[in-house]
Order: sequence, then structure tokens, then C-alpha cells
Amino acid sequence: MSKKGTVLVSGGAGFIGTHTTVALVEAGYDVVMIDNFSNSGPSAVEGVEKILGRKVTFEEVDTCDEKALRGVFERHQFDTVIHFAAYKAVGESVADPLKYYRNNLVSYMNILKLMKEFKRPNVLFSSSATVYGDAETLPVTEQTPRQEATSPYGNTKQIAEDILRDCCKAYPGFYGIALRYFNPIGAHPSALIGELPRGVPNNLVPFITQTAAGIRECLSIFGNDYNTPDGTCLRDYIDIVDLAKAHVAAVDRMVSGKMETKYEIFNVGTGKPVSVLELVTRFEKANGVKVPHKIVGRRAGDVPAVWADTTLANEKLGWKAERDLDDTLRAAWAWEQNLHKK
Ligand code: UFG
Repeated sequence: MSKKGTVLVSGGAGFIGTHTTVALVEAGYDVVMIDNFSNSGPSAVEGVEKILGRKVTFEEVDTCDEKALRGVFERHQFDTVIHFAAYKAVGESVADPLKYYRNNLVSYMNILKLMKEFKRPNVLFSSSATVYGDAETLPVTEQTPRQEATSPYGNTKQIAEDILRDCCKAYPGFYGIALRYFNPIGAHPSALIGELPRGVPNNLVPFITQTAAGIRECLSIFGNDYNTPDGTCLRDYIDIVDLAKAHVAAVDRMVSGKMETKYEIFNVGTGKPVSVLELVTRFEKANGVKVPHKIVGRRAGDVPAVWADTTLANEKLGWKAERDLDDTLRAAWAWEQNLHKK
């Protein structure tokens, strides 16, 4: 066992899970990855192993299956869990709320119940900037009031944050950190792991890369009549490798007993707003490719602008986003191209 300890990563084969596993192992942690491959596949685990040059511990387990998950707790010693396993398509959650509440909350309750029962102290939950909704003041700090969720997906993030807060308050020896991600994009510089959307991508960058690759004819930009400098929405696009490192910093903080309260929340973003149009143009320039695009109507549920105040993460986690946006967009394109070589 590594001196630093072992981390259970649920949803380990996903976009954030794979990059975080790489970052944890590179930082000296042992990792147990679990995933049910509902939105990923074995090639994601193979990509992680290729980058690391060694095998990782992986089990195909559905976190909603308490019995199977219990087996993982019985077989492996770990102090910390990073819980990524969840569905994440906003529109689908509106169409089928029960699917989202069941999957995202049952899996989470199973994890928390077993952490308590097996006396494993540290839970890191992957939350989202979605909890801020259409914030009145920007950038948002962790103190910015949450807004009522506009989708069942968003609501599962709010409920899960509250459950963690309450567990930390009630149970001795139980610690929690919620990381609120802004818009994770990009891919590992090796182009061996990245985002693998199924079907038509909902998110902007996978749609851009697929359009550049000729898989999609044209990118639709949802609205240019927002009250922003160029009329398109502003977001805080965080490089996936930087995001993965934020998890390492949060785990370091937990295992070294540096938490100041039993439950802590951190924004994970760059602190820099970028418009949709600007992102498309930057992608085209950085990669020397064209992304045919047109302006269409607004997408329901989009907020005009949200970006992070990252002071707390900078100071308390000693973490800061470092990657240059052009490098991130080059990595996203390299990953897309690599997919078509296979
Ligand atoms: N956009 C387009 N065209 C597309 C896709 C997106 O113009 O084809 C725009 C959106 O309107 C938005 C921006 O690109 O202005 C970013 O959209 P994404 O779907 O990539 O990201 P969101 O900001 O909507 O969503 C992200 C996360 C969600 C989270 C949400 C709210 O992906 O998990 O933030 O914080 F819930």
C-alpha cells in the first residue's frame, strides 16, 4: 500500500474520474477505480494504464448495487472516496427525473452508508457550479447563495451537498469536501483519455471538436442576445488536468488533517469568463481548423453568465488553474483526432 494512502474513485472510468485517477497515482496515492461503464468503457481504464505505464485496480461495479459495493469495501482498505458516479445530462434529467434521482442519490447514499459503517472518514463529492443558478453577483464565491435548481440533475447536486453537510455534522470522524466544478474541458496531453459523449454531445467543446472533425455539420450557438460583451453566454472553462489536480489537493487536505471545519466547499474554476463565440474562435485559431457555426435561439435553462471566484481554493487548497486555454483546446482536438485513428 502507498504511504500516502488509497482512494476509492467511483465513476473512475468517466471523463473526470480517469484524469483524477492519473493525477492521484502521479501524486503517490493508490487508487481503486470502480465504474459500471454506463457512460464509458474499458478503453478508458486502458488509457489510464497506458499513461501510468502500469495496471490500476479496477472493478466493474454499480454503486447503486449496495451488495456489490459492500464487497468493494470488504476487499479494499481506503480512507477516502471521491464520488463521481452520476448521470449528468441536464435535458435528460428534465425528461426523466426519477432516473436521475434514483441513480444519483441511491448510489451516493450507498457510498455514505458504507463509509460510515466501515469507519472510512473522508468523502469528496463532485458538485457543480449549477448550484449557483443565475447568480446576482459575479464572480460567485462559495458564500454566494445557491438558487433553486432548474433541473433534477442540478437538484441532485444540491441535495447531495446538503446530505454531506448533515452527515459531517452528525457523525464523529466523518469529513466532507464538495468541489463545485465550473465547465471542465480538454483532455490529457497524451490524448489517451478524454471526454467520450454518447450520441449528440450536449456540451460545447465536444460539439466543437465533432464539428471540426466533420461528424456534425454545424455548431449551433444558443443565443447572441444576452447582456454580455458579445451577446453569447459567459462560462469559466477549466482544464480537465487542472481540475484533476484540485482533487489531489483536496484529498491531501483531508488526509493530512488540515480541514478547518468538517465540511468544506471549494469552487474549482479559472476565475476567467470566456464567451461561447470567443471559445469557438480560440479553438479555430489554436488548431488551425474551421468550426462552421450559426446563431440560433437560446437554450432553455442556460444562465447568461457564471464564473468563479477561486480565492478560497487558491488559499486553502494551494491549488490554482495553470493550463493555458489554447493548450486546453489543442488537447481537446488532439483527443478527438485520436478517436478517429482507432
Ligand atoms: N452551447 C452552445 N451550443 C452547443 C452547446 C453549448 O452554444 O451546442 C453553449 C451553451 O448555451 C452555454 C455554453 O455553450 O452557453 C456552455 O454549455 P455547456 O452545455 O457546455 O455547459 P453548461 O454551462 O450548460 O453546463 C455545465 C455542465 C453541467 C452543469 C451546468 C450548469 O456541463 O453539468 O454547467 O452549471 F450543470
